[in-house]
Amino acid sequence: MSTTIESVLHETRLFPPSEEFKAQAAISGMEAYKALCAKAEADYEGFWAELARENVVWQQPFTVTLDESGAPFYKWFSDGKLNASYNCLDKNVEAGLGDKTAIIFEADGGEVSKVTYKELLARVSQFANALKSLGVQKGDRVVIYLPMSVEGVIAMQACARIGATHSVVFGGFSAHALRDRIEDAGAVLVITADEQCRGGRNMPLKPAVDEAIGLGGCGSIRNVIVFKRTGGPVEWAEGRDLWWHDVVAGQPLECEPEWVDAEHPLFLLYTSGSTGKPKGVQHSTGGYLLHSIVTMKWTFDIKPTDVYWCTADIGWITGHTYVTYGPLACGATEVVFEGVPTYPDAGRFWRMIQDHKVSVFYTAPTAIRSLIKLAGAHPELHPGKFDLSSLRLLGTVGEPINPEAWMWFHEAVGGSRCPIADTWWQTETGGHMITPLPGVTPTVPGSCTLPLPGIMAAIVDETGHDVEWGKGGLLVVKKPWPSMIRTIWNDPDRFRKSYFPEDLGGKLYLAGDGSVRDPETGYFTIMGRIDDVLNVSGHRLGTMEIESALVAHPLVAEAAVVGKPHDVKGEAVVAYVVLKRARPTGDEAKEIVKQLRDWVGHEIGPIAKPDEIRFGDNLPKTRSGKIMRRLLRALAKGEEITQDVSTLENPAILDQLNEAVK
Ligand code: PRX
Repeated sequence: MSTTIESVLHETRLFPPSEEFKAQAAISGMEAYKALCAKAEADYEGFWAELARENVVWQQPFTVTLDESGAPFYKWFSDGKLNASYNCLDKNVEAGLGDKTAIIFEADGGEVSKVTYKELLARVSQFANALKSLGVQKGDRVVIYLPMSVEGVIAMQACARIGATHSVVFGGFSAHALRDRIEDAGAVLVITADEQCRGGRNMPLKPAVDEAIGLGGCGSIRNVIVFKRTGGPVEWAEGRDLWWHDVVAGQPLECEPEWVDAEHPLFLLYTSGSTGKPKGVQHSTGGYLLHSIVTMKWTFDIKPTDVYWCTADIGWITGHTYVTYGPLACGATEVVFEGVPTYPDAGRFWRMIQDHKVSVFYTAPTAIRSLIKLAGAHPELHPGKFDLSSLRLLGTVGEPINPEAWMWFHEAVGGSRCPIADTWWQTETGGHMITPLPGVTPTVPGSCTLPLPGIMAAIVDETGHDVEWGKGGLLVVKKPWPSMIRTIWNDPDRFRKSYFPEDLGGKLYLAGDGSVRDPETGYFTIMGRIDDVLNVSGHRLGTMEIESALVAHPLVAEAAVVGKPHDVKGEAVVAYVVLKRARPTGDEAKEIVKQLRDWVGHEIGPIAKPDEIRFGDNLPKTRSGKIMRRLLRALAKGEEITQDVSTLENPAILDQLNEAVK
């Protein structure tokens, strides 16, 4: 067990919500929470149906709430019709919020622009018309490879408006990763930008699209729309490539939304699993939208006067649910930022909160940890030097938060007055699942506390039986919920096997995380992944993906990748590599390490570059040829090998693998 988890389990500090917060909260007090949970227990479908009627505008009301006939391919609200973009834009304009600011955008260089709901609706409609004029139809897949921008949100909303299924690919992924996603999704169009700006540098984006298409397998692509972000040089494929400003020119500012079935796939989002191939997680329109709205209210207590800021990129699920859909569907004013938390300096977040009077702030533990470090070195950038009095609520997501970082966030950023929602969820869950509610739950640093009402989270053993509180086990969800993953695009069999395994009886959703509940409070603490998935700076990476990238290098014969704890990134990537030639040492080893790191950066993206590479003549294997990853993990952490290595084919190589290339 890692020291972080142990320290969470022994954590005794308890932070109840203030009476003041509680008094105004959407869910106020533990009794109210328990009543909602009891309601969901008593009439599960009725509970969700009522929320769906209250929170979503249906063009055609649903009469069926949950259809389990094709389990585990569950359907929610399946005979209802709606449009997600209507629910995020028209609904608010019709309710009189047309002149309210929807998005405050701050660019990498600090320039600020604002868009009202009325303007956003017009721009989304105009871009939706442009997509239609290019022949994009309901059900077509559109890949979005854009930097953080108002245009990114517009592109997603425009797809939703015409019933096209978007698949956003994070701008940090390489041409190879992009190609794989375009090919798997069978996308007809890519929306990109000439360049992206990060940390004061302009970095090309469009060339990666050209390269991806050049790699082959992208025959379904008819057009590439290019948003001119910087005006940097781009190559142009006549007939295929089109400028954003040209395709929208002359398009009407109104576009009737395409009313789709609740189950219509709103988007695919590729994420890593335990094989080398990323999974295209398919989300619905109705159930997904419902959960994004309900959790904005429950977890973020969103109010008309709030200025809400979620720092996630639209390339990840957090940027989908808590940037593009949830806040807009609630008529909120939100901040969207381009760039990095450390440019122009490590005061960027705090200055932005001060300047835009942010009241609800949602970010990742890795960002907090890096800013703690930098504030230590540059006291003038400490959050205490800024006016953060507008903040009333904080949230974290993506990885476990260590109690020290939690306390710093609480005190230095939240002025010891803001509740912190440590939200546990996944790409597959669509929205928050286990999280403190700000007007309800006394928080404990490092624990995501209790499931939301209607979310039947539990911890079971390898046979699917409940384990006692206090004992670790597999985190599962016992009942389907509206925003759950519907399938893996093109691979329903993998969906069933990954998430509803027969070993657990085939009916429990297996999250892939280990967890333990506090023996007294029942609070959940997440102990990390139980599969070969790493969490590096809150980004999910499959060890097999990195291994496949490494073995594709002409010098590499074999590779095994594991994670090791890292004080800022959470986890670091350690690769053990066997070359097709003699084990390198000295400068030669350094040179090959550089080559391999660049290679992985090119194959997957810079986030997947191994932090450390170790060379051996072989990998530690059992006599049956299985790589002993547990041993490799222990070596990576620098732990003494106390395990029995007598079954190893080749114990001598452990010494070689203990040496990192410095
Ligand atoms: O291991 C859990 C971790 O992130 C995984 C999901 O990653 P992804 O699909 O990329 O979604 C991240 C954003 C929702 C989970 O299986 N994780 C996420 N949130 C937390 C967490 N681990 C601990 N605490 C959290 N709050």
